[in-house]
Amino acid sequence: KTFDIASIPADGVGHEVVAAGREVLEAIATNSGGQFGFEWRDFDWGSEYYARTGRMMPEDGLEQLKDLDAIFFGAVGWPTVPDHVSLWGLRIAICQGFDQWANIRPVSMLPNVQSPIVGAHERDLDWIVVRENSEGEYSGFGGRNFSGREGLGEVSTQSAVFTEVGCERIFRFAFDLARTRPGKKVSKVTKSNAQQYGMVLWDEVFDRVAQDYPDIETESVLVDAMAAKFVLRPEDLDVVVASNLHADILSDLGSAMSGSLGLAASANLNPDRRFPSMFEPVHGSAPDIAGQGIANPVGQFGSAALMLEHFGLDVEAKSLQVAIDRTCEQGILTRDVGGTASTHDVTQAVIDNLG
Ligand code: NAI
Ligand code: MG
Repeated sequence: KTFDIASIPADGVGHEVVAAGREVLEAIATNSGGQFGFEWRDFDWGSEYYARTGRMMPEDGLEQLKDLDAIFFGAVGWPTVPDHVSLWGLRIAICQGFDQWANIRPVSMLPNVQSPIVGAHERDLDWIVVRENSEGEYSGFGGRNFSGREGLGEVSTQSAVFTEVGCERIFRFAFDLARTRPGKKVSKVTKSNAQQYGMVLWDEVFDRVAQDYPDIETESVLVDAMAAKFVLRPEDLDVVVASNLHADILSDLGSAMSGSLGLAASANLNPDRRFPSMFEPVHGSAPDIAGQGIANPVGQFGSAALMLEHFGLDVEAKSLQVAIDRTCEQGILTRDVGGTASTHDVTQAVIDNLG
């Protein structure tokens, strides 16, 4: 079987980590002895493409991607383009265009990588943030240039949209995921004390869906309290389900707790499999270190492992995770996690450590 994969490094360190991820995936395909392979389709979309064309991707961009098996993405955003233009023009366009309504972001501790959380390794921290990825605060509803009341200047609105269907499907996804994990628990993040419409619907749908999963423990935690809980009692977390904005913030907190933003992986899934899903690290284009060959490729590797899982290649996904663990055990770490290794060194070590 050959998997057709779109390669979209986009901007900054995206180029370095996507190249590293492809090397590792090619090594895994070679090790399979021809059982499967990858056919890469290169797309040069991103902020440089924008400078040439005035768009982040061509008008028929989604059309060009829609029959591929997956999208392997780097990071988008560069100081030459306003961030809301680059993000909406490429990443969110793909997520929403392909109805990738579930974004999963696992967090775990790696050997030799120091966590800002005291005793993180002994506490065996391991949880997964499930992000509602199609609506909520990032629905794009709102506008600018309202003629405000005297003395207010310009007035703008940005509305969060929650639909019953959107809430239900992400909760079912979270509960189904919890069933596959030892913790068997779903923590739902909310802010329904202050936001009395959307978040209340969110809560009600959660309670209804929870009734179909009596084997799964549940809790409801306000987002501000959840931020504190991440830091104080992370061992109580298993599956954390949150709205688009809340999960965006909490998952960066989670990845920082694992030691670096450069470690965190994510998958933007279209669980119905009508469209390709997209696999990308949580971090951005890191302009401060781009082009130096020092970016941490581990978040991209973790995203590659999630892509392998999505293809049903569970054994290969597991062996990639093990290779990442071994590489950290050997102390082959990039600077963001206290080492001196380059992106290339880590990539080579992971390839050498594969099964
Ligand atoms: P960032 O994630 O690019 O960087 C934050 C910090 O983490 C920086 O100090 C950076 O050096 C470090 N870092 C990030 N990835 C790393 C890696 N692989 N290895 C080592 N260190 C790493 O976030 P920032 O600076 O807020 O945003 C930069 C640009 O990226 C902006 O244009 C932003 O819009 C975009 N962005 C894009 C995302 C995406 O494509 N999914 C996500 C977040 C930001
Ligand atoms: Mg983010």
